[in-house]
Amino acid sequence: MTQDELKQLVARAAIDYVETDTVIGVGTGSTANYFIDALADIKHRINGTVASSEASAQRLKKHGIPVLDLNSAGDISVYIDGADEADRHLRLTKGGGGALTREKIVAAASAKFVCIADSSKLVDVLGKFPLPIEVIPIARSYVARQVVKLGGNPVWRENFVTDNGNVILDVHNLTITDPRELEANLNNIAGVVTNGLFALRPADILLLGSEDGVKTLNR
Ligand code: A5P
Repeated sequence: MTQDELKQLVARAAIDYVETDTVIGVGTGSTANYFIDALADIKHRINGTVASSEASAQRLKKHGIPVLDLNSAGDISVYIDGADEADRHLRLTKGGGGALTREKIVAAASAKFVCIADSSKLVDVLGKFPLPIEVIPIARSYVARQVVKLGGNPVWRENFVTDNGNVILDVHNLTITDPRELEANLNNIAGVVTNGLFALRPADILLLGSEDGVKTLNR
């Protein structure tokens, strides 16, 4: 199977975690897009969605799936989203698509977080995939210098603006042995909106698409 077929397989499996008559959180990226397409088939079963990006909101609306504002959505039963890397403790690196801040907010506001990925995303140690940090534009150089002090090599994602009007630094050369500590330390730098580590609030369930089918990892 191709990587896209594995993403589609795992996205379809996530439909089992959609609870009837509830609002669900929907992530961003190619795997989340396959989930949105599968969700269209059962859209009558849910009360609506909260999207983690403008792109996902557009795709949901195109399928006729209601998109709600988080402030008025009430409880979210489950958040379903992809990842750039995941470890066996279900700690994640996200933000390859630049939607990390809204993803983190919707994940935090959801009772359960189901992460969907093809099995190539499972790693022993996070950090090979450059870690995205969303930064207030005037703080870009300052934040980059602080990141260098932490041992990273920040690269400005040029010609990219987030849905929140900010910029992204992709941090290379990190071996993330303590993801919770790094997540907190990066968030403490003035000018950082958030970073792509999901360790303080990891996934609750990780569905991995592989040649042998869908594997389920629990925290
Ligand atoms: C979007 O900002 C990201 O967090 C995505 O969830 C992540 O990049 C996974 O993307 P794919 O599903 O396209 O691999």
